[in-house]
Amino acid sequence: MTIEGLDFSGKSTLVRLLRQRFSETPALGQTMFTREPGGTPAAERIREVLLDPELEVDAWTEAYLYAAARADHVRNGLRPALAEGAVVVCERYLDSSLAYQGAGRGLGVDTVRWLNGWAVDGLVPDRTFYLALDAAERERRAWESGASLDRIERAGAGFMGRAEECFEELAQKETERMVRLDATSPPGELAEAMLREVRDLLYTHPG
Ligand code: TMP
Repeated sequence: MTIEGLDFSGKSTLVRLLRQRFSETPALGQTMFTREPGGTPAAERIREVLLDPELEVDAWTEAYLYAAARADHVRNGLRPALAEGAVVVCERYLDSSLAYQGAGRGLGVDTVRWLNGWAVDGLVPDRTFYLALDAAERERRAWESGASLDRIERAGAGFMGRAEECFEELAQKETERMVRLDATSPPGELAEAMLREVRDLLYTHPG
């Protein structure tokens, strides 16, 4: 399963909670928590380049680097874990590239999907939880956090607005895979909702 959403949608808090809940639920079996860009040593190095605020990176280079990190993560991280029967929870995946590079940077959603074809190699998440957060609330949280922004977070409101629209469209189109959650709900409730879905999935489609 994957977790998607704009920056400051609360993914990290939720993942911390989920880790705890998963460890208290041995019936779920082996689990692996991972993230993109990253998840393998090579992909984590690519992450450093991608998020470095000192670097100016061309939009196509950015899209290829996200795809390159993903190619390594799929082959050396995700597939091996899935082959061992683990439940995999991945923070961000292909949808982030569609939203940020496809819509945000304006490269085109279909083009970025195509460009990622070899990277994902047919690996589609069983469930994607999309944490929906409107732009105003995002701005408020970014300001409140006081954190220094990475290269992508500095891209501006227009960029994030386009990315948000794309996430919303994907959630509307791909209702079988994507579950839209309100990012302003209490994290405990969100974690429970996700656990319920994962349990349903395991019991209705075991293996
Ligand atoms: P994170 O802050 O959620 O770890 O993600 C790092 C940044 O990378 C975040 O601003 C979203 C961005 N991103 C893309 O632009 N495209 C992608 O394909 C992925 C996975 C992340």
